[in-house]
This record gives sequence, C-alpha cells and structure tokens, in this order.
Amino acid sequence: MTLSKYSFALPTRIEFGEGVVNDAGKEAKALGASKVMLVADKGVIAAGLTEAVEESLKKEGIDYVIYDQIVPNPRDIHCVAGHEFAVKEGVDVLVAVGGGSSMDTAKAIGTLLTHGKTIRDWCGYQLLEREITPLIAIPTTAGTGSEVTPFAVITDTTTHVKLNIFDPKAAAKVALIDPVMLMKLPSHIMASCGVDALTHAVEAYTCTLACPHTDAYALYAIELIRKNLRNAVNEPTIQACTGMMLGSTIAGIAFGYSDVGGVHCIGEALGGRYDTPHGVAMAIFLPAVTEYNIPADLDKHVDIAKAMGVDVTGMKKEDAAMEGVKAMQKLCDDVKIPRMKDLEGIDPDDFEAIAIASEKNVSTPSNPRKITAKEYLEIIRKVYEG
Ligand SMILES: [Fe+2]
Repeated sequence: MTLSKYSFALPTRIEFGEGVVNDAGKEAKALGASKVMLVADKGVIAAGLTEAVEESLKKEGIDYVIYDQIVPNPRDIHCVAGHEFAVKEGVDVLVAVGGGSSMDTAKAIGTLLTHGKTIRDWCGYQLLEREITPLIAIPTTAGTGSEVTPFAVITDTTTHVKLNIFDPKAAAKVALIDPVMLMKLPSHIMASCGVDALTHAVEAYTCTLACPHTDAYALYAIELIRKNLRNAVNEPTIQACTGMMLGSTIAGIAFGYSDVGGVHCIGEALGGRYDTPHGVAMAIFLPAVTEYNIPADLDKHVDIAKAMGVDVTGMKKEDAAMEGVKAMQKLCDDVKIPRMKDLEGIDPDDFEAIAIASEKNVSTPSNPRKITAKEYLEIIRKVYEG
C-alpha cells in the first residue's frame, strides 16, 4: 500500500451514552466555568431538552444565562448579538444544546469572544490564533456531527453566502452525546438530519482528502445510518436512536478530518438562497452527485453500495455502484424527504447563480471528480426535472 503523509487528531473528548447530559455541570466546572451561556433554540427549550443541563449546572452552583436567538442556517447577525450578550454577562464557558445551528452559533460566538473583529475575518481554513472559549456540545439531532467537527457554517446576511470557520481550535472541548435526546425528535427532522449524516459519511469516504482513518469511520457510519434511520423515523426506540447518534457522530469525525464534496456545495448554495433545511438540500442532491462521482473511484462506490445493503454478488462494478445510488434515493423516499420539485419558491432562473455559488464553495476542490459551475448546473437541472 502506498500512502501520502497525513495527520489525524480528535480535539473533542466524547462522552457517549444514556444520561451523559446530566454531567454537563461537572464538565463545565472542570473547564473552570464561573458563568455559562446556554445556547439553545426556543423549540429545544420548549421541548424540555435543556432541563437536565440546567439542573446539573444548578447542582454544581454554576450561574448561567440562556441565548435562544438561533435559526436554521444560522446567520452572522445572531452570532454577533450572542457575542454582545456573552460579553455583557461575563460568560466564560459555552454549552450548546441542539442541532447544528445551535452548536455552530456557539462556535461562532466563542470565536468572537476570543478573537474579536467580525465572523467574516475568521472564515477560512485554520485562521484562528488561539482556542475559542471552551464549548460543551450536546446534540439533540443526529445529523450535523457539529459536536465533533472543527467547522461552523454561518450565513452572511449581506451576500447570502455560507461562510465556514474551519479550524480545530473552534471544535468543542467535550461532546456529551446522549441518545435519549433523540427520542422525541419530530420524524421529519430525524429524517432530514439522518440523510445529512449519511451525506457526510459518503462524501468523507470519497472526497480527495479522505485518508484511511476517515475511511474507517465513514464506511461504518454509512452502515449504521442505513440500518437505523428508517426505524428512528418510524419508531424511535432507544436502539434506533443509539444507532443514529453513533452514525452521526462517527460520520462527523470522518468528514471533520477529510471534507465533504459536491453535495454540500450545491446544498449550501441552495440553502443560502432559499433557506432550505440543510438535510433536505442534501437528500435532494446526494443521489445525483454520487452518480456523477462514480467514475472517480469505482471501488469506493462499490464499498458504499455494500454499506447501503446492496448484495453486489455477480454484479459489474459500475452496476453495483449505481445500485448504491438507487439505495440512497430509496432511503430518502422511504423517510419521506421531499424532492426538489416539491419545494416552494424554487425558481429555475436562479440555477445559474446557485451553480456559480456551488463552485465557489471551499469544498469544491475536495469533490472526487472535477466539477465546475457547468457540471453543477447540469446536475441541478437534471434533479429539478426529475
Ligand atoms: Fe451537512
């Protein structure tokens, strides 16, 4: 085996299992917290998902404030407002409870607390000068993997472009990953987040920055998600939720250390323009972009087909890889994610601008097959026309 040099490190300590959220207070204390900012959206708070965290902070005698100005596809303006609030309150540890929006908002607030200036100044690859304010990440969805990734994806409200803070210094210090947090998640959110996690795994496995460590994580994540997503959507037992939390976090480790590719580039461009939920945007483009990428690495796409449950015995590699793509589409359909035509407000006149924005995404060079605005446009049109 020949192999280029690579490096692999996990800056986030993972605590996984039923009830680990009850340790949030102890973990905050260990990080030296005198005042915590709990970053969670209103829905998560209303669903009671911050209660155990708040109890554990009180038990440790740690003062806290709540910041709930969190929106899907988080925006720079809300990160700036959160930063101003954190400064005013003298916050020294952040605890994010929620999906990617809450965790990414917290990472951006932590970046502003330690670096100042604007979010735009810190978007790019490894631009941070020091570690951000200590962050404890507690996921309530199985999708983004943000609890273990070094990314924060923030929408610039003036340009509608999604910006990435991409730096291990922005990663959470501790991830408390508790499958019980998933059990009351609405089924459509379980579905779209689950396909986002599947996309992370597929893109991590095939992208140009993949390495043996990320391959190992990615392939197992595909299998876990394929085996558990339908059950988690239809009947969220603790077994199904454990499988999805594992799949999502493991996929997060994979793509956090390799990258994503074309599906995310188009999906983020679409989300930036229409506010399409991230997971829905992924599901819309995952099969078509994967099909486009098959010629770049036939063997890896056969591996994906196997992980998607396809019996490839006796098949030509090309056919096996295509069966993997079909299995992805079937999974998306089975968990009732809408197709592109079903979305409101999509205007074909925007497709060229979306294709151009896709090409500009920092992950375009990571796509396994060369892709430019021209090919993105062809894929978008093909998917739209169904
Ligand atoms: Fe994603």
